Amino acid sequence: MKSRSVAAFFYLASVVTITSGAVLPLPDFIKPCSRNDPKLNECAVKQGPVVIPKVKDGIRKYRIPKLEPLRVDQIKVDQDQSAAVGINLVAHDIDIHGVSQAQLKDMDIQVDPPVFKMKFFFPRVELLAKYKISGKVLILPIQGKGDANITMVNLDLEFGFDAEWVKKENGVQYLKMKDHYIKYDTTRNYIKLDNLFNGNKALGDRLNEFIDVNWREVTQELGPPFADAIALVIRRIVSGILEQVPRDNIFPEKA
Ligand SMILES: *[C@@H]1O[C@H](CO)[C@@H](O)[C@H](O)[C@H]1NC(C)=O
Repeated sequence: MKSRSVAAFFYLASVVTITSGAVLPLPDFIKPCSRNDPKLNECAVKQGPVVIPKVKDGIRKYRIPKLEPLRVDQIKVDQDQSAAVGINLVAHDIDIHGVSQAQLKDMDIQVDPPVFKMKFFFPRVELLAKYKISGKVLILPIQGKGDANITMVNLDLEFGFDAEWVKKENGVQYLKMKDHYIKYDTTRNYIKLDNLFNGNKALGDRLNEFIDVNWREVTQELGPPFADAIALVIRRIVSGILEQVPRDNIFPEKA
């Protein structure tokens, strides 16, 4: 009788484990930082140079995609055509190069309730994509379809989110991300759109020159949807580890 109930318990336990999703340990290349460490942020920042090269090729178990290049399916900019700057832009088959050169500059972690801020620096990020554009960029009409190259130099990127600790069916506490934000700044962006105006080289060159001279304004117009798309990718990467590993493994009482 007794052994039977034990067997049933184990059976139930394994079912519960499966339905509550994978219970993953912290990846072995991450050294856990104690939630009681007064220097928790320092401890976390130190992981940067170790962790970034390790996740570069992607880790399926933790839902981390390959980072070099990082693939983004599609980014859409769909502005009100009646606005001063009305633009329709679709970028697809986007490959982002240089992500693995990220340097983790700063972390600001609050454990209870969970609030995270992380600052990265990328020396150079090259975004190569197929694009289709129509409308007006700043004041000039634009239209085209072809290859795009957006290169960002000295990209400072801050990603932050708040979250809550939730208990899954197995009674273990996990992080659940709530709202996130992204902030960024660069010292220079190079934007090049090939094959504008059905390949009319004179017109295309002129517009690319105009965009280059006004890169700051053009970035202000087109940047936010790109940043939103990148923020979602970062969120997926961060959640792959933070939402799948129990709280006590990420931030043990004692390291
Ligand atoms: C993209 O543009 C940058 C800056 O102009 C340039 O250095 C780089 O070679 C370009 N990449 C490709 C694949 O054309």
